Amino acid sequence: MRSDYPEVFQDPAVVDKYQHQVYAPDTYATAVNQRQRRYLRDLVRRSFLVRRPVQHDFACGTGRAIRILHGLVRAAHGYDSSEAMLAKAAQVGAYASLHRVDPAGPVPEPVPSTGPVIVTVFRTLLNADESTRDRAIAFAARILPHWESGLLVVENHGNRSSLRHLRHRRHAGVPWFDELLHSQVAGLLARHGFRVIERRGFALLTRGWYSRRGIRRVAQVVDSLASRVPWLSRWAVNVLYVARRTQSPTGEGGTAGRA
Ligand SMILES: C[S@@+](CC[C@H](N)C(=O)[O-])C[C@H]1O[C@@H](n2cnc3c(N)ncnc32)[C@H](O)[C@@H]1O
Repeated sequence: MRSDYPEVFQDPAVVDKYQHQVYAPDTYATAVNQRQRRYLRDLVRRSFLVRRPVQHDFACGTGRAIRILHGLVRAAHGYDSSEAMLAKAAQVGAYASLHRVDPAGPVPEPVPSTGPVIVTVFRTLLNADESTRDRAIAFAARILPHWESGLLVVENHGNRSSLRHLRHRRHAGVPWFDELLHSQVAGLLARHGFRVIERRGFALLTRGWYSRRGIRRVAQVVDSLASRVPWLSRWAVNVLYVARRTQSPTGEGGTAGRA
């Protein structure tokens, strides 16, 4: 967990590295992103049958989640504390209204929208500190007051119950090596009145498998197949959690459970 998390992404060099090296073609992150794209586009098509949602992407960075859902939403809003990240999002074609928000203080005000909503919080919870995690989910709760309002989708890219955990001793004290348990993510969401209704994993194998030329193809096939089997998310390195508010539109609690 990093206490300087928002500051790190103010640096244009970090932003360039994120977009052009971490998400270069053929990287582990890009392979995971492609599988997430297939899953998310299907999720939106089957979950919003009557009206397409408006997307609110918190800590949107370069607009990866916005670009994934392009064409399936009525409008998109990206919120981020880094001007440099927002500039890169516009440059790489994130079709959205982009908003700079303060990194701390009161929970940012979402742009009002009508009809169903999908809130995305990708690749942020793992390394952010507790208060940023809480702010992100509190922000989602403002736009999603009850279970009929829409969906919240959050990413954990360092599930502790995965092969990645085998490296935790070697990486002890390394600021970018955080881990999150499924129960921690579910607990964070529950604190803000959300219940996880679906969970999907997008890589059982770790980054190292993708950097060895001989086995990269095999790793891609294994992870691609695994990403189609929901229960394997238990041991996946990279996981998406889909949640709804437990509150019913009439104010009663505990009604979530439909996708
Ligand atoms: C690793 S990037 C993820 C970007 C994008 N969501 C993705 O999945 O590619 C983390 C992002 O969180 C943003 N961020 C960090 N702290 C924040 C805060 N307190 N409020 C809003 N955004 C924040 C950073 O500026 C950065 O763009």
